[in-house]
Amino acid sequence: MDKKYSSIHYHDYLQLDKILGAQKLRSAEFGTPAHDEMLFIIIHQVYELWFKEITHDLTSVMEMFDKETVDESDIGVAIARINRITEIQKILIDQIRVLETMTSLDFLDFRNYLLPASGFQSYQFRVVEVALGLKKQERIAYTQNVYYKVFTREQQEYLQQLEDGNSFFDLVERWLERMPFLQQDDFSFLPAYKKAVKNMLANEQRAIASAGYISEEEKALRLRMLGDTDTYFESVFNPEKHEERIRKGEAKLSYKASISALLINLYRDYPLLRQPYVLLGKIIELDENFTTWRYRHAQMVLGMLGKKIGTGGSSGYDYLSETAQKHRIFSDLNNIATLLIPRSELPELPEKMKDQLNFHYCVEK
Ligand code: HEM
Repeated sequence: MDKKYSSIHYHDYLQLDKILGAQKLRSAEFGTPAHDEMLFIIIHQVYELWFKEITHDLTSVMEMFDKETVDESDIGVAIARINRITEIQKILIDQIRVLETMTSLDFLDFRNYLLPASGFQSYQFRVVEVALGLKKQERIAYTQNVYYKVFTREQQEYLQQLEDGNSFFDLVERWLERMPFLQQDDFSFLPAYKKAVKNMLANEQRAIASAGYISEEEKALRLRMLGDTDTYFESVFNPEKHEERIRKGEAKLSYKASISALLINLYRDYPLLRQPYVLLGKIIELDENFTTWRYRHAQMVLGMLGKKIGTGGSSGYDYLSETAQKHRIFSDLNNIATLLIPRSELPELPEKMKDQLNFHYCVEK
């Protein structure tokens, strides 16, 4: 090994003195040591370390996307890094089981010493949320104060700067908006897709109307439900309807980005769209894992505190379960499943586009 590097001991490299010296039990400080406070501290510290790694990986992915054109090779790296985040999230969700080995009575032995500390003051958690794209106005209010008031001025400024800049959501949206293939020569994706959808819905209508095994009322109900699906498709055919859904808070992703995401999902079997499809899938997983963590955390809090208010001053369980429902960022990508049609109904793409979507060596001439 090159001698210009001095050797280092495992203990020093990991700065274990600092890390292992950072578990100070408040209960012991006040003369009533509570056994489980050690677990409580360690588990929070482990979470904070993983939040640091998540931010590290997410920031690097955001840098790759913060360009006029995203490098093809970067897409593979982005997928790998988001995949790492989703694996970490699974550990974060699982870790709640370790915390649940502490009972609510064990927790009450030291809970009062923590006031008014709360996970609500986790700066790194907020950084991740804001970087992903959660906006101030979309947050569930938990007290009179805005969420960032609990942070130092410097931290508040950084959060503001993050919120003013491009979030991961914004960057993915722009990347989708730039995607070609929606229109080429005399092929236009939307009218072709519209025709295929109408065809598919008409087939379903016929199948319901001619089914001998269901009652007339049941038929009428199913046809009405099919009509509702039709309305959902309408917002894809009509940009104004889509804008209206955005205004009502029912959708977030721009019209153009939504159509590109739809095209990627429909034609995912073409090699050129495979990576973008996998990437979108990973983003959905990341969003879902956060939601799952929020639910699990809320359930754990219910078991631990019942309906007591939180040490940070929120309503506790009710506030937390509401965030699980409302603090989702990429739900538009999930909703695309509603718009999928069978492969057999997919509009045929023009030869030139097929060539572009295939790798050259596999194009049959
Ligand atoms: C006994 C264990 C725990 C209890 C009873 C608990 C309780 C709560 C409560 C009641 C809140 C709502 C805010 C408040 O009023 O305080 C909250 C928020 C939060 N907790 Fe926990 N928590 C526990 C463990 C954890 C752990 C291990 C983490 C990991 C870092 C964590 C992270 C958070 C975060 C990030 C929030 C803010 C959530 C949001 O605003 O969306 N909590 N917690």
